[in-house]
Amino acid sequence: MTEIIRMDALSPDREGILRASEIIKRGGLVAFPTETVYGLGADATDAEAAKKIYAAKGRPSDNPLIIHIADPEDAEKYAYTNELYYKLAKAFMPGPLTVILPKRDSIPASVTGGLDSVAVRCPSHAVARELIRASGRAIAAPSANLSGSPSPSCAEHVISDMTDRIDMIIDGGKCDIGLESTIVKISEDSAILLRPGAVTYDALLCVCPKVEISHAVTDALAEGERPLSPGMKYRHYAPSAPLILLDGKDGDVLAFMKKAQQSENCALICYDEDAVSLDNKKLIILGSKDDLSAQANSLFSALRQSDKLDADVIYAHLPPKEGIGLALYNRMIRAAAHTVKKI
Ligand code: TXA
Ligand code: MG
Repeated sequence: MTEIIRMDALSPDREGILRASEIIKRGGLVAFPTETVYGLGADATDAEAAKKIYAAKGRPSDNPLIIHIADPEDAEKYAYTNELYYKLAKAFMPGPLTVILPKRDSIPASVTGGLDSVAVRCPSHAVARELIRASGRAIAAPSANLSGSPSPSCAEHVISDMTDRIDMIIDGGKCDIGLESTIVKISEDSAILLRPGAVTYDALLCVCPKVEISHAVTDALAEGERPLSPGMKYRHYAPSAPLILLDGKDGDVLAFMKKAQQSENCALICYDEDAVSLDNKKLIILGSKDDLSAQANSLFSALRQSDKLDADVIYAHLPPKEGIGLALYNRMIRAAAHTVKKI
């Protein structure tokens, strides 16, 4: 049985937080909201609790978890930090940035998929921070979806994936960002961007003089290639019908969609501005053309919705790679298994 409790995202209720933290302390699983997506939390120092996360998600055990801390300095207990970590922390924490550092022995191998590094994140969401504080330890949490489905950007997604698999779900409403955190692996003076998110490449460059974008952010992995982040090798967020990304001028893409809706059983993921010209029954509106944050915020709901429409194919605009667009591009290109149609 999974208990579902509602909580105000800005002022978490003390009694509920304490009950949730008791579950974490005794090795149970609690899904909780963060500013990016919902996390599926367990005690990050308890090897057995971490194993329960993998079982509940159906996640391969070589795909490591992010540990969540309440304050940037708490990283010292679990990882070997450096000056660049504190520069990034000053600029972006608490917030949607995850930093990969060499791990200390306090984090069991089952949390890091056997790697000698650990991913550390200090979320800004009040419910997440209060839960970590009350638990008195770091909380290991992947996104609270079943492995292979889109990350949950609202409680309904978690409820649909995790009911009867975990002890508690804290419903704190819709997540502000809706896409997972930016992940960087750092050395003393440089960073590799492994997963783009709301902390953009340009923002990172303001703090860190050298930022390399891993080619796996935009390109398919070569046959047999071992990625820097194990998560990169899995085809996340895959809808059941093939998703095809349309690369062309907005007007040309819209003209293609208009034609496609007459001849194919297709779902269309379109901009607000397109909607009036499309009379397709299987229309999903992503957000305004120029508002990439709004599009990012609805992407995972759009992908979940597209699965329910029983279409033979799903068409969407290929996003630009600038700003938070790079994060959208990265999630969509993988959901599409790199299928792009030039218009
Ligand atoms: O926004 C987020 O980051 C959300 C919320 C809940 O905090 N969490 C999240 O976790 O997206 P997850 O497990 O769904 O994605 C974590 C990614 C995976 O692709 C994993 O392979 C990578 O981080 N990762 C974790 N530890 C790593 C490590 N030590 N080295 C390289 N990649 C790592
Ligand atoms: Mg995930």
